[in-house]
Amino acid sequence: MKNIVLGVTGSIAAYKAAEIASLLVKKGYQVQVIMTPAAAEFITSLTMQSISQHPVHVDMFNTLSQWEIEHISLAQGADLILVAPASANLIGKVASGIADNLLATTIMATGAPVVFAPAMNTGMYENPVFQHWMNFLKGMGYIFIEPDEGRLACGTSGKGRLPAPEKIVAAVEQILDVRKDLDGKHVLVTAGPTREPIDPVRFLSNHSSGKMGYALAREAEKRGAQVTLVSGPTKLAPPEGVKVIAVKTAEEMFNAVKNLFPVADIVIKAAAVADFRPRQQAQEKIKKKRAVLSLELERTPDILSYLGEHKDKQILVGFAAETRDVLTNAQDKLNRKNLDLIIANDLTQEGAGFEVDTNVATILFKGGSALTLPMMTKTELACVILDEIIKLFQ
Ligand code: PMT
Repeated sequence: MKNIVLGVTGSIAAYKAAEIASLLVKKGYQVQVIMTPAAAEFITSLTMQSISQHPVHVDMFNTLSQWEIEHISLAQGADLILVAPASANLIGKVASGIADNLLATTIMATGAPVVFAPAMNTGMYENPVFQHWMNFLKGMGYIFIEPDEGRLACGTSGKGRLPAPEKIVAAVEQILDVRKDLDGKHVLVTAGPTREPIDPVRFLSNHSSGKMGYALAREAEKRGAQVTLVSGPTKLAPPEGVKVIAVKTAEEMFNAVKNLFPVADIVIKAAAVADFRPRQQAQEKIKKKRAVLSLELERTPDILSYLGEHKDKQILVGFAAETRDVLTNAQDKLNRKNLDLIIANDLTQEGAGFEVDTNVATILFKGGSALTLPMMTKTELACVILDEIIKLFQ
């Protein structure tokens, strides 16, 4: 029986937590409820206890010794933590590492997936500070269920309503159903930009944040693969359970990938590799005395072309970041580089490509078919790409 910890925070939507708990229990999950003191102002612990059929953990500092033990056992025993409704206060605390209540400490101590269902006033939801913390947590692998739009308790209308309990439970079930369908496979992912030095302080590079590649590495690891991530310079934390090899230049990425290629079953090249580098790197910082400076550039090694020429058993996946003739250019790369599939990003579309948490992609297959996808988070896209790769093995 799967164990779900249901965190309830202070919100007018807290009453919906009773319905969520009830649906989860009916579906056969064991539900342990943690309520913040603010939540207990909106809904009684007795209600939650009656529905979950377990004692409810209400956060109180006067039982500190018990509290310390509780959060560890709840954190370790959870298959998933769902916080619904999740307040801006709790999300901000988790994002900034503040653990001053039982729910926040449990979230911090767990290795289980954590799902937040935010519910708040539209202004709060759209506040850049809240959006910043939410995106930060998404980047760390926390999962968010998007709030609905509609009439809010404060009398206004907009985004911020807690979705229907059925919708939240369906999302939870989907997350728990993570298959180990990459068990025994070695997945090699590249991510981030490369930096090609001009002199000791300057380089040529691009806007890749590494988010797409890191999401792929994280999802492949969750599905049982042994994952190696060859990463250019990024600000992202290394995904848990993934071996990370840090590189800077295209040449370094080429060498790392070449070494790992023979043992890989799947190679996914999400990195934005610089196509050109300065032919010569100045040993000293170039002075700005001249009005014009010309740099002579030469091609970097095309890593994916090399892999395409040398592949035997490997499934080879490329990305194409394009600003025009997106599908034609991507198809050309698929053919030239001997790939099994390529993910075309249209950089002109909002929510696609570099730096953002979402992507808008079309997957092109070797056989000529295409799968056009709507805008989705990079984590969701990573799941779709892995699903398509699995189908190739079958
Ligand atoms: O990192 P994010 O901010 O999340 O952004 C994601 C992304 C836009 C970087 C990613 O989704 C993406 O599109 N990556 C590929 C970008 C790119 O370099 O495309 P390209 O068309 O230049 O290259 C085509 C393919 O060849 C890519 O798989 C690339 O890794 C590979 N390549 C390119 C040049 C080179 N010298 N060696 C290569 O292996």
